[in-house]
Amino acid sequence: MRVVTARDYDQMSRKASYIVASRVILNPRCVLGLATGDTPKGLYRELVRLHQAGDVDFSGVTTFNLDEYVGLAPEHPNSYHRYMEEHFFRFVSIPPEQRHIPRGDAPDIAAECERYEEAVRRAGGVDLQILGLGRDGHIGFNEPDVKFEKGTHVVRLAPSTIEANARFFASAGEVPQSAISMGIKTIMSARRLLLLASGPEKAEAIRGAVLGAVTPDLPASVLQLHPNATVIVDDDAASLLF
Ligand code: GLP
Repeated sequence: MRVVTARDYDQMSRKASYIVASRVILNPRCVLGLATGDTPKGLYRELVRLHQAGDVDFSGVTTFNLDEYVGLAPEHPNSYHRYMEEHFFRFVSIPPEQRHIPRGDAPDIAAECERYEEAVRRAGGVDLQILGLGRDGHIGFNEPDVKFEKGTHVVRLAPSTIEANARFFASAGEVPQSAISMGIKTIMSARRLLLLASGPEKAEAIRGAVLGAVTPDLPASVLQLHPNATVIVDDDAASLLF
C-alpha cells in the first residue's frame, strides 16, 4: 500500500485527479470505478477542469459506480445517479451506455446485484477504482464485519452510516436502510485502487486501514493485501499515522 500525503482537501483532490487523468491519457478506453460521498467531489471538480482545458478526453471511458441506495430511483435527489450527474457526468462526454450505477429501484434486487457483477466482468474488470472511506472504515457500503469474499450484494447500513449520511437527506428517518454495493471481492479485483480520505473524522479509520490488522471489522484494511493500492490522505486524516 502506497501512502501519499496532501496538506489539505484541495491538494488531495488535485493529486488524485492527476492519477486518474494519467490512467485515462494512457488508456482512453479504460474502466474507472467511481465513488460518491463528499470526499471525491473535489476530484470530480478537478477532472472536469482538465476536461474543459482539453487535456483529458473521457468519451472512451467506461464507468462503474460502487453503490446505490435500495429504493431510490435514479431521479431521486439523493440517489447516487443524481450525484454523479451533478458532479461529473453532465460536464464530461461519457456516453450514457458506458456509465453504470446499480439500480436501487430494480424490482428484483438480488438479480440486479448479479447483473451488475456480470457487467463489471464483461467490461474486463475495473482498471482504477476510486474509493472514499466511512468513519467506521467502510468502503463502498461494505460495513464492518461484511465478509471479504462477497461480490455485488445488498447491505444493511450500519446506524453510524445512516447517521453520517443523514446530512444529505431531510432527516435520518429518510435515509434508506439498505444499499446495493460492490463487495470487497469486486473492489479487490480492480487492477488499481485509489482511496481518498480527508478530515480529522477519518483519522482513526485511516490508522486502522494502513497500520492495523487486516480484518473485516475494518473493511478498508483489506487494501493492505492489494498489489496496487494508493491512499491519499490530507494532514488531518493522516494525523494518527506518523
Ligand atoms: C458513503 C458512501 C461511501 C463513502 C462514504 C464516506 O457511505 N457509500 O462510498 O466513501 O459515504 O463519505 P464521505 O466522503 O462523505 O465522508
